[in-house]
Amino acid sequence: MLLFSGSSNQPLAEKIAEELKISLAACETVRFADGEVRVRMVENVKDQVCAVLQSLSPPVDSNLMELCQFGQLLKKAGAKKIVAVVPYLGYARQDKAHREGEAVSSAIVAKIIETFGFTDVITLDLHSVEVVNFYKIPTLSLSALETFAQFIDSHRDDFGGGDLVIAAPDEGARNKAEELAKILEVDWAIFKKERDLEKPDEIKPKMTGQGEIKGKEVIIIDDIVSTGGTAITCSQKCLGMGAFHVFLMATHAVFTRGEPQFWQNSPLEKIYISDSILVPKTKMFDKLEFISVAPLLAKNLLNFL
Ligand code: R5P
Repeated sequence: MLLFSGSSNQPLAEKIAEELKISLAACETVRFADGEVRVRMVENVKDQVCAVLQSLSPPVDSNLMELCQFGQLLKKAGAKKIVAVVPYLGYARQDKAHREGEAVSSAIVAKIIETFGFTDVITLDLHSVEVVNFYKIPTLSLSALETFAQFIDSHRDDFGGGDLVIAAPDEGARNKAEELAKILEVDWAIFKKERDLEKPDEIKPKMTGQGEIKGKEVIIIDDIVSTGGTAITCSQKCLGMGAFHVFLMATHAVFTRGEPQFWQNSPLEKIYISDSILVPKTKMFDKLEFISVAPLLAKNLLNFL
C-alpha cells in the first residue's frame, strides 16, 4: 500500500505509516501566496492500492481542494484503489437544511470526493452517520469509542477518585455516552442543549441536565469541540449539580477559539482529544492531552490490501 499525506495532518499520517511499517509515499504540496494549492505526484502508483490521509479541518475548502488533486492524479496514473482517509470530515454538521433555504454541504462534499476518483472513504466519528448515505462509493464511518474506553481503563487514576459518569452534552451524543458507559460499566447522563440557529457559534447554548451527577467524576463525550460552548456550558452545569471533577473527551479538535488561555482557564479538569485534526503548537495548553487514532485507522486500512 502507498500512503500519501495531504498537508492537513502529516504527524497523524506518519503515525499510521509507522503502524503499517511503511514509509509515507513521496509527493509535493505547494501552497501559493494567494492561497491556491498544487499537488505533484512523484511516485509510480500504477496498479497500486493508494490511500490519502487528509482531514477537512480549517482551511476546510483548501484541504478539500488538495484532496481532490490527489484523487485526480492517482486516478490518472492508474492506481488500483484510491482510499480517501478523512478522519475529520468537514461540513458533516451540514447534513440537512436546518432552516428553509440552506444548502446541504455534506452532499456536495460527497459528490466532489467521488468525482475526483476515490474508490473508498474512511472517516471517523461523523457528526451525523446519515452523511454516509450521500456517498455512492463504500464509506466506512469508524468510531473512536473503543480507543477512548481503553484509554480511560488504563488511566483510571487520572480521572479522580469518585465513581465515573459519562455525560452526553446534547441529544446528538446520547448514543456515544450510552455506549461508552456500557463498555466501561458505569452510569451515564444526558443534557438538553438549545442553540440559536441565527448564531450557531454562540458560546453559551442553553442547557438542562438529567442523570445522577452529584459526587461523581464526569466525562463529557462529544464528537467535535469547536467554540467550546457546548463542553464548557455542560461542565458548568455538572459542577453546579455537585460533580467532583469534569473532564472532556472528544474526537475532533476544531478549536475555533484559538486562545489557549480560554481553554486552560475553563472549568474542565482536562481535555482529551484525538489526533484526527492537527492542533498547532500556538493553540496548545497544559490541560490538553491527545489520544491517537492512528492504530484504529491503520488497522482498517489493512483491509484494503
Ligand atoms: C454539535 O451538536 C456537536 O456534536 C458538538 O457538540 C458541537 O459541534 C460542539 O461545538 P461547540 O464547541 O462550538 O459548542
